[in-house]
Order: sequence, then structure tokens, then C-alpha cells
Amino acid sequence: MKKLLETVELEYTFQFKLRKVNAIVPAGFKPFFNNLPIDPYMKGKYRSRRLSRFTFEGEELIKLPHGYLYQSNQYNPLVGNLKREFAELEDGLVQLDIFQQLIMAFADFCHLHPEAEIGVHQIRTSCSPNNFGNPAPEGIHQDGTDFIGIFSVDRDNIQGGQTHLYTAKKEKPVFNKILQPGELLLVNDHDFFHFTTPIKPVTAAQGTRDVFVLTSPSLIYD
Ligand SMILES: [Fe+2]
Repeated sequence: MKKLLETVELEYTFQFKLRKVNAIVPAGFKPFFNNLPIDPYMKGKYRSRRLSRFTFEGEELIKLPHGYLYQSNQYNPLVGNLKREFAELEDGLVQLDIFQQLIMAFADFCHLHPEAEIGVHQIRTSCSPNNFGNPAPEGIHQDGTDFIGIFSVDRDNIQGGQTHLYTAKKEKPVFNKILQPGELLLVNDHDFFHFTTPIKPVTAAQGTRDVFVLTSPSLIYD
């Protein structure tokens, strides 16, 4: 008699998900993107950013001390194996309810360990008629972390900036979408490569794309 194959329920971990958190109205973040220092590690001055790291103590969001960002050049061929330092997020931003809700949503959706460290990158990519902006100058890549969240804050006078996820660098993307303000894309960094296409202005003026990129672990060190 033929033996039936046993089926085993495998533990499920998520691969990627797109969420909209209605309580988080992204317009509240916008004023804090007007005072971002230029990223000194990028050629061209089209990217500006701040960076901080956080953890939770119970329900309370705790900001951790300043540190430096480090990725190996296996993950970041442009600026890997380099200690990078950025200005901290502004206190007024960190104190916003919507900011705390965003970090909590990321932690919840990714089922992070209660003591996990979360890096928060506040990034503006700018473009003008003569200079396109490149949100992912390193190309199709992984960050070298466990979980990534990309939260779209604003798209002002831009076209392009489509976010792609790939299971392998030479495959077609399994996800391809312009993230609209208020949308949060969650990605398991072990399973996917990510990329965002360049942006250019719609009209003959400057254009900007504002996002928060959250990672856990933070890749930030003392
Ligand atoms: Fe990345």
C-alpha cells in the first residue's frame, strides 16, 4: 500500500507586505524635511538625510545615543566598509505622536523582539530638470539587516521613484510600485533585494521625494 506523504506545517515568516496606517497622516512630517543636511558621502548634492536609532522600553520609545552607520562593502559597494555619521533626527520630529506610531507600526508588523534596535533614516532625494535624483545609487541591493520599512512621506513634482523588490538580481521584480504618501512597505531583507528607480521633475522646477527608511537591526554602532 502506498504510504501517504506526511505534510508538515512550516513556521511562517513574512516576506514583504504593504500597509497603510490611517492614523499616520504624513503631512505632519513634512516641515522636518526642509532642514536636512546634505549627505556628504554621495557624489552630487541631491540627497540629504538624518539618522537616529531607537528602542522600546515597554510602550515608550527611547532614543539611543549617537553612533555611526556601518555596512560591509558586500552590501554597499559605494560606501561600504566606511564609518558614516549623520546628524540626529530633530527632537520636535521624534516627539510627534505620528512618529512614535510609525516606529511602533514597524515593530508590530515585523514582530520585532521587544528590545530590538531600530534605525530611522530620514531621507530627501531631490531632482531638477538637469539633474535626476537617484534614491538607490548603489543599484539593486540588500541592506544587510533583518527587516526594512520604507514609509513614503511626500512626492512633490516628481515622476519615477518606483520601488522594486527582487528575489534575485537578474530576475524581474516581484513587486513594482510607486509608494504613495502614507504607505509603508515592509521587507524581509534576507529574502529580497530592493531598488528605487531615479526621479525627475514633472514641471521645469525642483522635485523632491521624502521617505523614512527603518531597519532592524539598526547597523548603527557606538
Ligand atoms: Fe537599501
